[in-house]
Amino acid sequence: MRLTWPSEAPSAGSVLLRPWRAIDARLVAEFASDSYIPTIGSVPAQVDDDKAAAWISRQLARAEQGTGYSFAVADKRTDRAVGHAGLSLRALDSGRAVGGYSISPPCRGRGYAKDALIALTGFGWSIPALHRIELYIEPWNIASIRTAERAGYLREGLLRSHQEIDGVRRDMALYAALRPG
Ligand SMILES: CC(C)(COP(=O)(O)OP(=O)(O)OC[C@H]1O[C@@H](n2cnc3c(N)ncnc32)[C@H](O)[C@@H]1OP(=O)(O)O)[C@@H](O)C(=O)NCCC(=O)NCCS
Repeated sequence: MRLTWPSEAPSAGSVLLRPWRAIDARLVAEFASDSYIPTIGSVPAQVDDDKAAAWISRQLARAEQGTGYSFAVADKRTDRAVGHAGLSLRALDSGRAVGGYSISPPCRGRGYAKDALIALTGFGWSIPALHRIELYIEPWNIASIRTAERAGYLREGLLRSHQEIDGVRRDMALYAALRPG
């Protein structure tokens, strides 16, 4: 079922979460240049204009298809896309979602991921059926762990050999936030 797009862009601190636009293709190229991002998501490691446009189209299709939300993380002041924040809602019938986020390499270390995850989580609680948002983070990924903790997520354990990334079975730390109140 098609998901409704929020009438007001979710926001926190210096960012807002908005729909992807064609102009954000530049960000897709920056993502592709990162050694890790293409291994954990759908960004191709080799990107050209057509591939970047196709990736943006796929992000927009997620809410249409009812599988979740993919937001561009934009700097509130400039509206420039600096990253991605997504909420996968495939387990919404069970009250659960999985969050994800990435920030473009040149834009890291400025609090964008923390603000994006706070905005994404607040938006999540506007979905009545949602009670729990999970994050799956590799234990070495201190930047992502700090981001999760700064946004109020708690570590629940280590999922050993949870999934394959870049051809290797990986342990994942499970973090989660629960609907307030
Ligand atoms: C993880 C990621 C999203 C963090 O983005 P960011 O915008 O640089 O993060 P922020 O600036 O909001 O920082 C959030 C916290 O992490 C800390 N942090 C950021 N980079 C760090 C690093 N390289 N080492 C240690 N801590 C780091 C910050 O100090 C901050 O904590 P603090 O507020 O307690 O000081 C970014 O590194 C990234 O896109 N990595 C590749 C994709 C990825 O790993 N996504 C997550 C998959 S689970």
